[in-house]
Amino acid sequence: MIKTVLYIHILSATAWVGGSLLLFALGILLRDKQAQKGVYEHLGPIYGYFETFWLIILWITGLILFSHFGIGGAMANAPGSELASLMHAKLIMVGVITLLTIIHMYIAFKTHTTERTPLQHLVSRGSSMMIFLLNLVIVWYAIGIRDQL
Ligand code: HEM
Repeated sequence: MIKTVLYIHILSATAWVGGSLLLFALGILLRDKQAQKGVYEHLGPIYGYFETFWLIILWITGLILFSHFGIGGAMANAPGSELASLMHAKLIMVGVITLLTIIHMYIAFKTHTTERTPLQHLVSRGSSMMIFLLNLVIVWYAIGIRDQL
């Protein structure tokens, strides 16, 4: 049973991180501004729902794994342990990307058919860059946690 949960967790991680890698690559490799605008306009909302779905599944399965392995107990009783500190850092990073995702989606849907202000543009670009980078670190931490179980 827990193997299935881990499988779904890892599958969700591939979808969530893979999606962000693809969009990041598109942003860099698709030089034609008009084509880029078109891609983001059409793909944007689908991408938004796709990523939200997998992030929710990551939280649900992550919390099941967290409770199955008694990590909460380890964090409470041995906060200085490798497992506790890795999990602590991972939870903070996942919390930050969840918040950034909400902010990013709010701006994306609010300005989908209108022009963005320079501030909205900056926050939108900055949040997606942060999500992208944090994802790479989170996977690294996830492997560290696995090593401790
Ligand atoms: C962006 C969100 C997340 C990503 C990309 C992610 C990624 C991963 C990956 C790739 C693994 C497998 C590591 C391995 O087997 O070597 C993993 C394991 C794990 N994750 Fe996450 N995770 C996320 C969110 C969460 C959350 C929110 C929690 C808890 C509340 C969580 C708890 C765990 C636990 C306990 C494991 C270890 C289970 C095991 O390997 O047997 N994860 N995560």
